[in-house]
Amino acid sequence: MAIAISIHTPPLVLLLATLTLLLPTTFSASSNILLSGGFLTAGRSLQYNGYALAMQKDCNLVLYDAGYEVWSTGTAGMGKKCYLYMQGDGNLVIRNGTGPVWSTGTSIGVGQYALVLKPNRDVVILGGAVWAARTGLAVT
Ligand SMILES: *[C@@H]1O[C@H](CO)[C@@H](O)[C@H](O)[C@H]1NC(C)=O
Repeated sequence: MAIAISIHTPPLVLLLATLTLLLPTTFSASSNILLSGGFLTAGRSLQYNGYALAMQKDCNLVLYDAGYEVWSTGTAGMGKKCYLYMQGDGNLVIRNGTGPVWSTGTSIGVGQYALVLKPNRDVVILGGAVWAARTGLAVT
């Protein structure tokens, strides 16, 4: 995409043009799904409409609805560089760099899992195949 910008273009117009180019990238990065093997670092969140599941810099994992807190892991203050990790064994864990500070305790076996912030505001871990052709390649 080529944009012709004259040298007489006011700085504000240049700024708005730059933001317009950046915004779609920023917004498409937000998702309501965290697949197994995926991280949510401090400051990042899953999003669905007005809902947000935020891994905060204070180490608390908080579910917001239109800015109001509706649920949290109660782990504020347990580390400065905490991250949420959807493990490949089905367990969802908050780690603080030293070790785990919270988990769902759902290690049920190696597989493909997904933490999903659903349209009804529920937060669930989905996974496990109902049926498989058993042609899948081994994952290390
Ligand atoms: C991580 O959490 C553990 C348990 O609460 C705590 O002992 C440890 O100091 C924390 N580590 C950091 C880097 O905050």
